[in-house]
Amino acid sequence: MDRIKDAIRTIPDYPKPGIMFRDVTTLLGDAGAFRAAVDAMVQPHAGKKIDKVAGIEARGFILGGAVAHQLSVGFVPVRKKGKLPWQTIGQSYELEYGVDEVEIHVDAVEKGERVLVVDDLIATGGTAEAAILLLRQAGAEVVGCSFVIDLPELGGARRLEKLGVKVASLVAFE
Ligand code: PRP
Ligand code: HPA
Repeated sequence: MDRIKDAIRTIPDYPKPGIMFRDVTTLLGDAGAFRAAVDAMVQPHAGKKIDKVAGIEARGFILGGAVAHQLSVGFVPVRKKGKLPWQTIGQSYELEYGVDEVEIHVDAVEKGERVLVVDDLIATGGTAEAAILLLRQAGAEVVGCSFVIDLPELGGARRLEKLGVKVASLVAFE
């Protein structure tokens, strides 16, 4: 995991003073680290039946697309409100200041499909929780979540585990 952690760039004071931003673009640009990360995101869920991967906008699209390819399953984009062209269902979640909403197409999953949720990073878990609730509302069973990065001090993994979802992450930053 050192190889993966070392490939993540930290940018101090982005987007605001005091925030240490964990930037995965450097990992994505490193062929070996990108492949190692995708393999390691799949591994904790080995042996489970997975019908689809849902990736959360924006960096979850890149990682989730690669994970879906690796598993030979379809991909569901979980998008910020107003971006999807067909009929949608939405779920709002709280930000530090205000609320945001994620959406999926009404027909993105079939009833009973088993879905793995993928994103680059879990902080408070609010975004991933909204994605899980949305997929459940659409009739899917969420079989797990995979992230590259966990920020454990923000409690996101515990929040998702309370929903009964297995959470895997590759590296942690305090
Ligand atoms: C980041 C990150 C996760 C989310 C994690 O995305 O990629 O999706 O925040 O935060 P949380 O666990 O506290 O919900 P961001 O909201 O910056 O959106 P973007 O990928 O569209 O830039
Ligand atoms: N990187 C990317 N997304 C984030 C971060 C970060 O450090 N913190 C909260 N969302």
